[in-house]
Amino acid sequence: MIGTCDRMEMKGTAMNNTRRHLLKQTAGAAVLLSSSLAFRRAAAQTADSAGADPDDTIPVPEPRVARFERLAFGMFIHWGLYSQLGRGEWVMNREKIPKEEYRKLQTTFTAADFDGRAIARTAKRAGMKYITLTSRHHDGFSLYDTRGLTDWDAMHAPANRDLVKDFVEGCQAEGILPMLYHTTLDWYQESFENDFDAYLDYLHKSVEVLCTHYGPIGGLWFDGNWSKKDADWKEDRLYTMIRRLQPEAMIINNTGLKQRGKLGHPEIDSTTFEQGRPTPMDRRGLPKYVSGEMCQTMNRHWGIGVNDFAYQSPKEIIENLCACRKVGANYLLNVGPTATGRIPDYEAAALARSGDWVRMHGEAVHDGKPYALESKGRDFALAAGGKIYLFIHDLDLGHHHGPKPEVSGAGPRTFAGLDRQVGKAEWMDNGESLKFKQQGDRLTVTCKKFPYGTNTVVRVACLTIK
Ligand code: GLC
Repeated sequence: MIGTCDRMEMKGTAMNNTRRHLLKQTAGAAVLLSSSLAFRRAAAQTADSAGADPDDTIPVPEPRVARFERLAFGMFIHWGLYSQLGRGEWVMNREKIPKEEYRKLQTTFTAADFDGRAIARTAKRAGMKYITLTSRHHDGFSLYDTRGLTDWDAMHAPANRDLVKDFVEGCQAEGILPMLYHTTLDWYQESFENDFDAYLDYLHKSVEVLCTHYGPIGGLWFDGNWSKKDADWKEDRLYTMIRRLQPEAMIINNTGLKQRGKLGHPEIDSTTFEQGRPTPMDRRGLPKYVSGEMCQTMNRHWGIGVNDFAYQSPKEIIENLCACRKVGANYLLNVGPTATGRIPDYEAAALARSGDWVRMHGEAVHDGKPYALESKGRDFALAAGGKIYLFIHDLDLGHHHGPKPEVSGAGPRTFAGLDRQVGKAEWMDNGESLKFKQQGDRLTVTCKKFPYGTNTVVRVACLTIK
């Protein structure tokens, strides 16, 4: 039997002319698939007649990419000198703080509360499986020992320790995969503006340090190429070095707010959807399988904003995680530690609460792959290991005032396009069975209201295939 999780891709092994045309029009970019019924039908209809058109072949993910997709939910950490000011990581640039002035922040940077292991535990509690830490952000300051490349690092601050080392070891001790964010643009190094080749040498040497002194790392997450769009960033050289020194590391390079989901250099392993909704990717005909990741702030700043109260609730975090998994993308949710390196209380609490939900649905969230069933509203299905998971939204909203969701309240929910026989269906939160009816390729499950005392925001039903 073909694994159920492969089925969506199987279905998509042929495409009609309209889709091919669209693909060609947007060559080089991750193609956004319409979720329209028409396209899904067309894809399903043509699947059986899939011929040998190489344009239609879906590449197999390399092991590091397959592993990354199963991590599903990660913690982003923006932390650095700027955290002492509490006004976001762009404060130097936004407030035009002169370098001489900004430099003083190094003399007060103690990192007294930064504890890689404690952070890894917080992530684990949240059901997260990886963490991406800003080893160096745009202000150019490194949290790691740059080994003589610059004094603008944590070793030359009162902290006087290699914080990346502490982070990586803490993650390893907790079974969390450590990844490192590294800026490519730099407000501190004059060579960035005056001598770009020299700057790139410095940048590449900096990354080489990260690749050689911390054991295997899960990935490198670059950010800033968008600041000099037409420059030659010598990506070939950088990525070749990473592949040589860290063959299992994901290579990611943030495309920024304006080019979400765009594919870049051929070595890139995942596209980014910064602060956006990830869209399904059409991988047919691509030279390699590229995954997707949405990164998002928990309030409106990446680096701590002490006066930013616009926080996501656990409900929103759950919904955002689901929206990512719906299309097979990872969700990288940010925290902004305090001046001294502690995750703020509300952030840790919101993560712990969301983590309760993730734990309840672990296998569905981490292993589930998009499964093309037609449904209404935000409902969707994932599949893994002989199980199909239905993610049912808006179950309790029937009695609410205000804008009505497209699907609301208790009652039947229909999913079309199923070619398996369902043996049983049960809610993952309490094991209770759901009534279901299968007619042709249509499955209708009867959803009751949440039992009194429960509201899991998105309720997940697990279908066991006969
Ligand atoms: C943007 C910002 C940066 C942040 C990043 C995270 O590129 O410049 O501050 O680190 O997004 O995705």
